Amino acid sequence: MPSQKFSRKYITRHKKSAQLWRRAARLTPGGVESNIRYFRPHPFLADYGDGGYIYDVDGNKILDFMMGFGALLLGHNNRDIALEVIKQLESGSMLGVTSELFIDYLAAVQKAMPSMRKMRLCNSGTEATMHAIRTARAYSGREKIAKAEGAYHGAHDYVLQSLDMDARMARNNGYKAVPYGRGIPKAVSDTVVIYPYNDIEGTAAILEENEDEVGALIVEPVLCGPGVIVPKGNYLKRLRQLTRKRRIVLIFDEVLTGFRLAYGGAQEYYNVRPDMTTFGKIAGGGFQLAGFGGESQIMETLEPGRGWRNATFHAGTYNGHPIGVAAGLKAVQILGEHPEYYDHVNRLGRQLFSGLQDLADDRRIPAWVEYVGSIGNVYFTTKDEIRNFRDTLSANTRRWWNWFIHCLGNNVLFGIPNTGERAFLSTEHTDEDVEWALEVADGAFAAIAKEAHRHRERAPAVQLQAASEQTALYGEAPHPSV
Ligand SMILES: Cc1ncc(COP(=O)(O)O)c(C=O)c1O
Repeated sequence: MPSQKFSRKYITRHKKSAQLWRRAARLTPGGVESNIRYFRPHPFLADYGDGGYIYDVDGNKILDFMMGFGALLLGHNNRDIALEVIKQLESGSMLGVTSELFIDYLAAVQKAMPSMRKMRLCNSGTEATMHAIRTARAYSGREKIAKAEGAYHGAHDYVLQSLDMDARMARNNGYKAVPYGRGIPKAVSDTVVIYPYNDIEGTAAILEENEDEVGALIVEPVLCGPGVIVPKGNYLKRLRQLTRKRRIVLIFDEVLTGFRLAYGGAQEYYNVRPDMTTFGKIAGGGFQLAGFGGESQIMETLEPGRGWRNATFHAGTYNGHPIGVAAGLKAVQILGEHPEYYDHVNRLGRQLFSGLQDLADDRRIPAWVEYVGSIGNVYFTTKDEIRNFRDTLSANTRRWWNWFIHCLGNNVLFGIPNTGERAFLSTEHTDEDVEWALEVADGAFAAIAKEAHRHRERAPAVQLQAASEQTALYGEAPHPSV
């Protein structure tokens, strides 16, 4: 088990959560709705959310930097969005036919990201990337897709590839697609080629090896699967040139970056126009809404008038669900009308993430805080640059867990302690929130420094033990330890 010293306060403060979670675990695997939500010793259960805080069943008021996995840029329980939802509920929660509301929503999204000449809606980022990939395959007439090592694009088979691995596996594997977990057919993995993010020569070489076979390249413009990795130099622009030259459809997966880095997402922030885009999270105002779109000639492969043999299929009972669309439209309108909200979250992001870096440095704890705008992640590593997934393998995940659970025991939630989770600011957070978070984080860094000091005195026997503890925590080979 990881060091219980760090989780003692969390356990003491979450007795009712533990009780309810045990009940949940009898009914659902891990007692959670999604594998990502599970963590040790047990997740906590929410009572309600408000602004920048979650109030849990034990009466704790928790400063939330997880913010609905990034969906809640406007905070929990935004009043204006809630009113639109109530209004829509009174006109029917599920219509099953197109409405004017839907057209207004598409127009609002297109205003923010004009690269999407045509769009389709669905209910999750997972569906959005799945349909975008199918559409791109149909358009290009090629079967393979390229995805970056470590990138997360949702929970379908085509993108659950090379998401995580330990350093040895990475060394032995080259860039072959590795299915993430069991149940994914090898035949699917064989249609996916993996490229190294932030390495344009490496990416070009992989595409060259698979010449004329790759129909689409999907990229998280900021690689957030393994935390937060910012594109270095002009990687995205060169990716644009490379895919254009090879007639590969370039898909920006903006499920996380859309409406967050800027109103127009990463494509506005980095000034690169992709062929296709996927969006979700913030675009749904906290409701189940996502979509995909792109250049007209690509999206026209979906035209139902072509007949099923010639068209690409896309459907869903709840596509364009009026409640989600009403919420999403309000969220997108608010963000379009308030450019100053971006100044606010980006300023707080700078304050929080550079503050965390300073605190770790002051305590002489090897750490690198990577961030852009209002998204950031702490890596406990000796590296002073993180360029790609493989660089994250040097991070000490046990230390991260100890730091995270210490902060959560003091009511600050810095994400979820699993691969690729990170911290997000919202418009509801304040300077005082950030100051308090830094105070709590410093307490956690101090505890880590003390623990490291104790370890140094007791090494090497404890180091071996630490490695096996990490395996127990993550159930797989650990990243290099303490
Ligand atoms: C970049 C990216 N794409 C796709 C998804 C999947 O979205 P969803 O969880 O709504 O299925 C996520 C979710 O975190 C994401 O971050």
